[in-house]
Amino acid sequence: MAWSPDKTEVKSWNEWDTLRHVIVGRADDCHIPPEEPALDAKVPEDSDMRGQWGRRPQETIDRANELLDNFADQLRKRGVRVDRPVSIDHSQPVTTPDFHTDSQFGCMPPRDVLLTVGHEMLEATMSYRCRWFEYLNYRPLLKQYWEEDPNFRHEAAPKPRLTDADYHPDYLSEKIGDAKRLEWAAEKFFVTTEEEPLFDAADVLRFGKDLVVQHGFTTNLKGIEWLRRHFPDHRVHTVNFPGDPYPIHIDATFTPLRPGLILNNPQRRLPEDQRGMFEKNGWEIVDAAQPAHNTPPPLCYSSTWLSMNVLVLDPKTVCVEKSEVYQAEQMDKLGMEVVEVDLRDAYAFGGGLHCCTADVYRDGECEDYFP
Ligand code: NVA
Repeated sequence: MAWSPDKTEVKSWNEWDTLRHVIVGRADDCHIPPEEPALDAKVPEDSDMRGQWGRRPQETIDRANELLDNFADQLRKRGVRVDRPVSIDHSQPVTTPDFHTDSQFGCMPPRDVLLTVGHEMLEATMSYRCRWFEYLNYRPLLKQYWEEDPNFRHEAAPKPRLTDADYHPDYLSEKIGDAKRLEWAAEKFFVTTEEEPLFDAADVLRFGKDLVVQHGFTTNLKGIEWLRRHFPDHRVHTVNFPGDPYPIHIDATFTPLRPGLILNNPQRRLPEDQRGMFEKNGWEIVDAAQPAHNTPPPLCYSSTWLSMNVLVLDPKTVCVEKSEVYQAEQMDKLGMEVVEVDLRDAYAFGGGLHCCTADVYRDGECEDYFP
């Protein structure tokens, strides 16, 4: 049955079919959390964020919210239904019987927490202590979907204990250096151990019957095995990008645009021995264009490769950040219509256009693209 704006239905099997309903994050009350093992391993060693924590400056929160509100309006004008999370108080500490941290993170970006697979939305385990309760920002929406859509499956992965046993102490040193980090990444030695299943939703890309999952800082092998057992009708593939010294979240590294076409970060190429399923089925993996910026904006966790963190609206239309002129030009050459979105001043809140959204409904069914 065709989608109707008057009826809530959760369904999305891939990253590119026509988007009808989406969640866009909010910058409300976002915090830079205090030091903790998994977070420290991710903050680049030369970053302006090292050693500071607390609520983000109000003017940056207001500016990010202005951009996120504008993006939501842009989507609504194109006929997409847009929902927004309800912020909890992120200044509250997180205390469990196993750990304590003095503040939380925010209600950005939803893509990190919520994984939509078909009629299901799954809350990820998360691997940072400060993000342990982040699902609460989305619970009012998930409750609403559950009440309005009788086929909606609201699932939550087992909450991890996140004791010190979850983290390799080698990563806790302030100065490791990129050479050592790259060596460790090549050996698949990441900050998270195999103590218990861990995954962030943003390490997963959906290709219909296939789920492609990055093994790195935020998702361990047990997390991938948990996904495999949880989605028995899917094929779950583990991928690595050894060129990335800070491997978290796949969506500034590997970006499917439509069936048969994927952008890959040229500094983080998919290794030859992991390309088989794509090559056998005639998929093209092309290097993404260079970012337009040499550095990320202030107080930003992400790299300049948010340039390729795009939101596909349908297989011919893609949202690209307004200042990312090289990425837009490449999209044009690849035959995609580009919708420009001003978002750079919100990057510091956890990412770009793909990150700051989570799918609720896309047209299309679960297809097998890699038979
Ligand atoms: N690993 C990523 C995260 C972006 C969503 C980066 O390039 O910073």
